[in-house]
Amino acid sequence: MTQVPEPRKESKMRLDWNERALSNALYAIDASRRKWDIDEFYSKGPDIVEAIVDPVLNFLDVDPKGCTVLEIGCGIGRLFAALSQRFSYIIGIDVSDGMINMGKEFCPIPAKWIVGDGISLSGIEKDSVDHVLSYEVFQHVPDHGVIANYIQEIGRVLLPGGTFQLQLRKGSDTKRQELVRRLPRLGRTVAGHVLHFAGILPVRGDVDTWLGIVLPPSEALALSRPVGFIDLQILPDRMHAPEMGYWLIGRKPQILNDKRIELAHEH
Ligand SMILES: C[S@@+](CC[C@H](N)C(=O)[O-])C[C@H]1O[C@@H](n2cnc3c(N)ncnc32)[C@H](O)[C@@H]1O
Repeated sequence: MTQVPEPRKESKMRLDWNERALSNALYAIDASRRKWDIDEFYSKGPDIVEAIVDPVLNFLDVDPKGCTVLEIGCGIGRLFAALSQRFSYIIGIDVSDGMINMGKEFCPIPAKWIVGDGISLSGIEKDSVDHVLSYEVFQHVPDHGVIANYIQEIGRVLLPGGTFQLQLRKGSDTKRQELVRRLPRLGRTVAGHVLHFAGILPVRGDVDTWLGIVLPPSEALALSRPVGFIDLQILPDRMHAPEMGYWLIGRKPQILNDKRIELAHEH
């Protein structure tokens, strides 16, 4: 049964990602560099989209022309330029108004930007999106119920036949992160501060909204099946350590049993 996300977690995610956005947004999105030139930062988007989106569209036999793509956790729209070369309409939703405001200022691609509540796709209409993408977002989400809720919400907003791809976490990025993850809460918090002040990681705010929870592929599939998705698959995440990430992909059937969706929402 899906747990209802705690509102406290929602506000924590917004608070922490706003803090990261205001202090050094580009470093928080791509920690491989502490100081980014904004044009260089955006120039990384096309290679990422080519590596993560094209194989999934091919796999699911999707022609994106004329279609709407929704990116959950869009940050400042790093992927939008390349998405706009494939899809016709872009919607980006993010829990951080700091990220969204920066995206509106610096990203030149026409898009609908939405500050989300961090747990749902409220503000996006039922049956209105062709493809949902989320990259380097759920790996930071600290709550199982939040991910479960997003998966149900994807079933709501997708058009019949619409597709999705979510990058998720099955383990830690590094051995060091694994050690931190295993610490009790107090130890994790201290370690987060130390790593931040040592300039090793942009872990401002709560360490748990950076570490995220581990969601094994079998659990991701178990959360998705009751929503009624078809063509569910787990694919490798080639952008991160093999033991860390994976993709959950799937499709909303042409005729989705509304009863199933309602049931899933009741839990
Ligand atoms: C590492 S950045 C990735 C941004 C973008 N996907 C990209 O690849 O450029 C993570 C983004 O996820 C957003 N985020 C974190 N938790 C979220 C949540 N629960 N709901 C929506 N967005 C969230 C953060 O505000 C941040 O903009």
